[in-house]
Amino acid sequence: MKALWIIENEDNTFSQNIIEKNVDELPAGEVLIRVKYSSLNYKDALSASGNKGVTKKYPHTPGIDAAGIVEHSLNEQFTKGEKVIVTGFDLGMNTSGGFGEYIRVPAKWVVKLPKGLKLKESMMFGTGGLTAALCIDKIISNGITPEKGKIIVTGSTGGVGIMAVMILAKLGFEVVAVTGKTEAKDFLLKIGAKEVIGRNDIDDKSTRPLLKGQFAGAIDTVGGNLLATILKSMNYGGVVSICGLVNSPELPTSVFPFILRGVSMFGIDSAECDIEWRKKMWKNLAKKWKPEQLTSVTKTVTLKGLPKEINKILKGGQIGRVVVRL
Ligand SMILES: NC(=O)c1ccc[n+]([C@@H]2O[C@H](COP(=O)([O-])OP(=O)(O)OC[C@H]3O[C@@H](n4cnc5c(N)ncnc54)[C@H](OP(=O)(O)O)[C@@H]3O)[C@@H](O)[C@H]2O)c1
Repeated sequence: MKALWIIENEDNTFSQNIIEKNVDELPAGEVLIRVKYSSLNYKDALSASGNKGVTKKYPHTPGIDAAGIVEHSLNEQFTKGEKVIVTGFDLGMNTSGGFGEYIRVPAKWVVKLPKGLKLKESMMFGTGGLTAALCIDKIISNGITPEKGKIIVTGSTGGVGIMAVMILAKLGFEVVAVTGKTEAKDFLLKIGAKEVIGRNDIDDKSTRPLLKGQFAGAIDTVGGNLLATILKSMNYGGVVSICGLVNSPELPTSVFPFILRGVSMFGIDSAECDIEWRKKMWKNLAKKWKPEQLTSVTKTVTLKGLPKEINKILKGGQIGRVVVRL
């Protein structure tokens, strides 16, 4: 099998190579899957560049997402030839991941491809799309409807952000997209944002505990002062889903948004979240939540093209999702 292979050099630098390895070298597991597509997420870029918080042991094949065909299963829930998706859990972190032609994983990590979704489409969503769906579901299930007001999305040209903008717009929400890329304004308006705000224009550096309420809901992929600003700018009863830290893992906030405006904040973890919630979200993504522009925000590369894309996502320069064809 072909795979992207990350090795740690003697001088503690890391190299990315494409190698041929034997399927027998994969870890033990119940389901062997021939990977047809994977996708690139920020976490993959960290794993591919030697981030020991994500991947402890090298050499290693990253790829937290994989979609493919069951080659062999020791679990009767899955049969040879079935189309399946695996995202999260330990895939691509310390378990050989989707940037290889085969993966072998526990059956409890595997989701059957829902009707209405092609294998490639499932990786256009990938972990970014699933995470956006989980964030949105949390907001909706906590009572936020389009009538209640605007939803703000940060990191809106990134993998999670772009999916959140498109799905929310499809569901009839008025979306405010925050971006650091001024050149992406027209693009964000085209995929469904009603308003685009520059990252620096919204970032509040004052010490005020609350700002004017503007948003009914928020999806934050960046953390730090930007998230603190959003918390201060929520309407009464606003709901915030948070999932990322590209700006900062810190959150310099106070209790005021929570105790004076009844704001709720939910943490989203797509890697370990309940499998039944995951299946429900994949069904939504296959049908009523599937954005028309899904293909147009995705580029497809082979393993050979991956290192360049990894470098770009690390610099915060990606717009949209990158699918990997194996
Ligand atoms: N909790 C989970 O289950 C889960 C799942 C997936 C991802 N995540 C996390 O969510 C975050 C986003 O993931 P992703 O895959 O969407 O990453 P991505 O594709 O790299 O997108 C991140 C976006 O954030 C913005 N950004 C970059 N640097 C920034 C900075 N210093 N301050 C503010 N914004 C910045 C950029 O968008 P603009 O230029 O448009 O602002 C960038 O495109 C990451 O932290 C990732 O680890 C968590």
